[in-house]
Amino acid sequence: MPFVLPSTLIDSEQIALVLAFGKLSVLEACSMLGRSVQRAESPCERVAVLRLEVSSPDRVTELAGIHKSAPLWAVVDNPSSDLGKVVDELTLHLDEKSNLSLSGYEVSADDYDTLARSLLDGVRASGLRKVRLLRPRGNELLAEEVLSRKAIDVLAFPYHGGFWLGPTTWIPDSVSLRGRGTRKPTPHSDISLSPRLAAVLVNLAGLRPGQVLLDPFCGSGTILMEAYIKSLRCLGLDSSASRVQDARQNLQWTDAGPSDKGYDIRKGDTRELPRMLRGTRVDAVVTEPVLLPRLEARPRTSTARQMIDTAGATYSVALESMARVLQPGGRIVIVVPVIQTMDGEEVSLVLDGRKLGLKPYQPGPVGFEYPVRLSFESTRWVRRGVYVFESAS
Ligand SMILES: C[S@@+](CC[C@H](N)C(=O)[O-])C[C@H]1O[C@@H](n2cnc3c(N)ncnc32)[C@H](O)[C@@H]1O
Repeated sequence: MPFVLPSTLIDSEQIALVLAFGKLSVLEACSMLGRSVQRAESPCERVAVLRLEVSSPDRVTELAGIHKSAPLWAVVDNPSSDLGKVVDELTLHLDEKSNLSLSGYEVSADDYDTLARSLLDGVRASGLRKVRLLRPRGNELLAEEVLSRKAIDVLAFPYHGGFWLGPTTWIPDSVSLRGRGTRKPTPHSDISLSPRLAAVLVNLAGLRPGQVLLDPFCGSGTILMEAYIKSLRCLGLDSSASRVQDARQNLQWTDAGPSDKGYDIRKGDTRELPRMLRGTRVDAVVTEPVLLPRLEARPRTSTARQMIDTAGATYSVALESMARVLQPGGRIVIVVPVIQTMDGEEVSLVLDGRKLGLKPYQPGPVGFEYPVRLSFESTRWVRRGVYVFESAS
């Protein structure tokens, strides 16, 4: 577990999260931290601030959709304010050979320079004369660089008219996550989502070890792998025999699951789910049924609507099948395409689960509008959105 600073520091009632997927990461955090989230703020696009009733360090370290998490050390009025409190805290964790960095999010170049200079001056004035200040490109030291360069990294972003300052304390293990994407026996990068996104979707299912997660469009099994690693029992279905083979191989390669063979992956059609499962119910469904092709250019809005309508037929039949095999109180986490058009519009697939007894999942105090868009994805013009439904208990 990559803690950059002592784990006790994460035990805080106000934390900043650097988001990997924008709003979807906030949804994951509200879902994982549950009722303890009293307030969630978005001071800038890359960062969310959560106020927690009771700190939940264990749950924070299960989040997959963030790059960094940082407790609050101080909010200063302006970059030239006295940073004494931050410097005092910093010096507790620095020695003469330490690397120091400042990661600024939506902080102007001038403000960044002023903050970085006063941090360094303060640290040096405290007697640590050889501490080095790393100068990241784009004013952000990426999470992996924080780890590889053993940096003590201070986060800064605009907050309530001033600047939030706090230390990067915990970083998700993105090396293992990425490794599962690149080293698994059958990667299938053309249809697969990233392990990090898969892990976020699995977290949104809200399951405990031993419960059953179904992916009825499992492809090469990226979602199932992340579920298996969390000791969930995995059920996979795909209409293609070769994909079923791929998924089985990938799951076999992931040997961190329960000691018994905790997965069952079969060839089959999602429309036949209730018949195939013969009355068995699952605790959650997590899936990406259709991945539209990468587009070379933004399509017309009318073309995008046609593409979405075609995909929509698969979704509505599949959603009905999934609802029929879901335990009461279970969740369906489903990825839908969102197309950006040449007319500047966004066309997304709209799902309505009311007739199936499904209601949109709303954790915490925020109020999420579905589909929740993913930000910062590199997919061209076709993006992803996510629905989370809850069945009546
Ligand atoms: C977007 S891919 C899923 C990719 C998967 N998430 C992964 O990471 O590899 C959709 C998958 O659904 C399968 N599929 C399409 N129609 C299906 C159906 N009616 N029933 C079951 N599987 C289906 C395809 O063979 C394909 O593997």
